[in-house]
Amino acid sequence: MANDIKDIRMASGGKSRIQWADSMMPVLRLIRNRFAQEKPLKGIRIAACLHVTSETANLARTLKEGGAAVRLCASNPLSTQDEVAASLLKDYGVDVFAIRSEDKKTYYSHIHSVLDIDPHITMDDGADLISTIHSERKDLAEKVLGGTEETTTGVIRLRSMAKEGVLKYPIIAVNDADTKHLFDNRYGTGQSTIDGILRATNILLAGSVFVVCGYGWCGRGIAMRARGMGAKVIVCEVDPLRALEASMDGYLVMPLIEASTLGDIFVTSTGDRSVVAGEHFERMKDGAIVANAGHFNVEINLDDLEKLTLERKKIRRDIEQFKLKNGKRINLLGEGRLVNLAAAEGHPSLVMDMSFANQAFCCEYLAKEGKSLEKKVYEVPKDIDRQIAQLKLKSMGIKIDKLTQEQKDYLSSWKIGT
Ligand code: ADE
Repeated sequence: MANDIKDIRMASGGKSRIQWADSMMPVLRLIRNRFAQEKPLKGIRIAACLHVTSETANLARTLKEGGAAVRLCASNPLSTQDEVAASLLKDYGVDVFAIRSEDKKTYYSHIHSVLDIDPHITMDDGADLISTIHSERKDLAEKVLGGTEETTTGVIRLRSMAKEGVLKYPIIAVNDADTKHLFDNRYGTGQSTIDGILRATNILLAGSVFVVCGYGWCGRGIAMRARGMGAKVIVCEVDPLRALEASMDGYLVMPLIEASTLGDIFVTSTGDRSVVAGEHFERMKDGAIVANAGHFNVEINLDDLEKLTLERKKIRRDIEQFKLKNGKRINLLGEGRLVNLAAAEGHPSLVMDMSFANQAFCCEYLAKEGKSLEKKVYEVPKDIDRQIAQLKLKSMGIKIDKLTQEQKDYLSSWKIGT
């Protein structure tokens, strides 16, 4: 079977969503038009494990136009847009294995189905394809030219594999490109996390106390946007530099155990596990809202929450309410999974344009250069990053200045002083 989706009859709604997203992805469109002419991925088989959204659909179309055979599964059981999956299959010939709310067993069976393509390139958002190849499908590794990784959490996993010397093929850390994390992680996660919380709850943010755990690029974006909506923002951090930065950015900084009694809304974006745990739930106000914006659903300790709970019930599509033994109620959004994709639509297309332009360029690069690379984690080549920034500016109608020869000479000389 070359697909497993919810319902092919949903395709027409999916197609118009994909086209709407495409109208805000001009850089990817330029790449797609060039790929259609040059076919740089001819004969290449790509296994992709990404959030199955309208933006991802436009990436998959681009890879197909480049000549690749593409199989796609979800990188999170709750992020699939079923109508998009249907249209990808029906209108664009991409084999899709993804159904929103699939259980863990189906999620992993879809990963295996995608790997059955016997890939030359793997494309991950969270490293699940790569870790499955390294644990259960070792036979596939030899043919793989290289892989790409979309997210911070995945890059951390892959760097630790490279450090232990177990990585079986080269990886490009797409996340670490400037045109990715400075925009997608900050402005994308910033906006879409607030969007997810608001769609799930319809609360008023103005005047609320909003606690952000983790002040990486995602946390910075979330804190900035929550403040923009009038919330009083507290940042909790373990890294002294980031904590200092949060403080000088104007936020209150304190340990989560102290913030627990103050917050109305708690959002995790740390990439680590058990950030919000039993001792925090016990101290929270009645009605507190808890959500996760990190890749995996381990940041909020749900076992702890369950142990403290007397009864639980679903009160809106994306809210489960836990009544604790101490009488207080905690509202968990989107089952503790990525709230921006579980309760909203993920990052807006305009920002995913840059992230996925990086993915498309990196696939082209791996198809060309993969054989000569070592088994380690590479940065995105600087000229790709620059090219994407230039194309994005152009698409936005923004012109910038150029250095004069005199200025270039000055910047490259150590002899010119006062
Ligand atoms: N990650 C975050 N937002 C996304 C989106 N809209 N599409 C694919 N991956 C995403």
